Amino acid sequence: MGFVGLNLAAFLASRKVRTVGIEINKDILTSLNAGKPQFYERGLESMVKSTLKSKNLIFSGNVEDILGSDIVFVCVGTPSLHDGSIDLSALKKVSEKIGKTMSVDSRWRLIVIKSTVTPGTTSNIVLPILESSSSKKCGKDFGLVMNPEFLREGSAVKDTKIPHLIVIGGANTKDNTFLRSFYSTIYGRALPKVMITSPTTAEMIKYANNAFLATKISFINSIANICQHLPGTDVEQIAQAIGYDPRIGPLFLKAGPGYGGSCFPKDVSALLSFCKNMGIDPKLVSATHQVNLNQPYEVVRLVERALNGILGKVISILGLAFKKNTDDIREAVSIKIISHLLKNGAIVKVHDPMAINRVKSVFGNSIEYFDKADQCIKNSECCLILTEWDEYKDLKPELFIKVMTSPIIIDARRVLDAEEFEKKTQYFAIGRGK
Ligand code: UGA
Repeated sequence: MGFVGLNLAAFLASRKVRTVGIEINKDILTSLNAGKPQFYERGLESMVKSTLKSKNLIFSGNVEDILGSDIVFVCVGTPSLHDGSIDLSALKKVSEKIGKTMSVDSRWRLIVIKSTVTPGTTSNIVLPILESSSSKKCGKDFGLVMNPEFLREGSAVKDTKIPHLIVIGGANTKDNTFLRSFYSTIYGRALPKVMITSPTTAEMIKYANNAFLATKISFINSIANICQHLPGTDVEQIAQAIGYDPRIGPLFLKAGPGYGGSCFPKDVSALLSFCKNMGIDPKLVSATHQVNLNQPYEVVRLVERALNGILGKVISILGLAFKKNTDDIREAVSIKIISHLLKNGAIVKVHDPMAINRVKSVFGNSIEYFDKADQCIKNSECCLILTEWDEYKDLKPELFIKVMTSPIIIDARRVLDAEEFEKKTQYFAIGRGK
C-alpha cells in the first residue's frame, strides 16, 4: 500500500470492485484501517474512508488474502541501491510469496506488475519465481502482465481516474485480453487509449517516458543556466515561446532547482545502471542525470553571489517538498541545498505548508522551522524559494522589504512576479540574466 498501490486500491474500490489492499507494515496497516494514509495526497483520504465504509475496500497484512482474487496488482517499491541500480528485493520476495500462496488452489488469476522495473524483469525474474514457487505454468495456470503506472504525486487521484494511456504488456494474448476487458469495465466510456505490447516493451515504455520528461527538464535547466550569463534574457519567455511549437509542447519546460521525487532520479539512475551492465552508453540520459546533479548547486551559487559568501548568514527557505501539493521530500533538492548551506556555516530557517515534519526528521535542531512564511523570512538576509506552493505566489515585495534584514530573494521556482520584484528588491531567479 505505497503510493501506487493505495491510490489504485481506493480507486478500484470506488468503482465497486471488491479490493483487498495488502500491507505488511503493521503501523501503516493500523493507520490505513483507521482510514489514514501514511502520506498526503489530495482526495485520497476521503476516498479511502468512503470505500472502507462501503466495505468495497479492506486492508490486510496477509499476502495469503490474494486467494480470493481474480487479479493481483503488485505495487511494491523498487528503490535505488547505493550504486544507482534497481533494488528488486521486495519484488522478488512478494513474487515468491504470491507463487507459494497460489500453489494451494487451482483458480486461474492474473498477476499484474505495476512496479517500475528494468526491462526484462517481468519475463526473466518474476515469471520464473512465480512458476517455481507455485509449481504452476504461466499462460496455463495463471497470467502475467506488466502494466506500468503513469500517475503523478499531487494529482494521483485524478490521474488514476483519468489516465492518458494504459499500457498492457502480457506474456500471453489471453492475459492482455483479460486485463483490457477489466479496465474497459472500470473506465467504461472514459477508457483511454490502450496499448498492447510485450512485457519488456511495457517496462521500457515506462523508463523512456520518465527519462524523456527528465530530459525536458534538464534541457530547460541548461538553457536557464546559459540565460543567467546573458543580461536581459529570461528562460520563462524562452520556454513559453518554444512551447508554442506543437513539436515541442509547453509541458515540463519549467526551469528550476532540478527534478526530485521518488521517480525521476531513481528511474534515470536505474536505466543508466542497467545500460552500463549491458555495455551500452546512453549519453543523452547520462547528460540529463549530470545536469540534474549539478542544478541545486546553480541555485547555491546564486545565493553565494548575492550574499557575497554564506558563512554566518541567515537564510530563509520557502518550500521543502519536492514539488507542490505533496508532503514528500524524497530526493527533494531542499535537502541537498540545506545540507550544503549548513556545511558552509549558514543559519537556516525553513517553511513548508506540509513537509515540515518530514524535514524535522532529517535536520532535527540544526535548522529552525516555521508554520508561517512571513515568520520564516523575518530577520533573514536572503530568502530562497524552493517549492512552487501557490501561497508563495501571493507574497508581495513590501512584505520582504518590511521583515527581512536585507531583501535578497532567490526565486528558484519562478513563482514571483520578476519585474515587480526586480524594481523593489534584490531579486535573482533561475534563468533570468542580470
Ligand atoms: C513522475 C511522472 O510525471 C509520472 O508520470 C510518473 O508516473 C511518476 O514520476 C512515477 O514514475 O511514478 P512525479 O515524480 O510525481 O511524477 O512528479 P512530476 O510532476 O513529474 O515532477 C518530478 C520533478 O520534476 C519535481 O521535482 C518537479 O518539480 C520537477 N519538474 C517538473 C521541473 O523541475 N520542471 C517541470 O517542468 C516539471
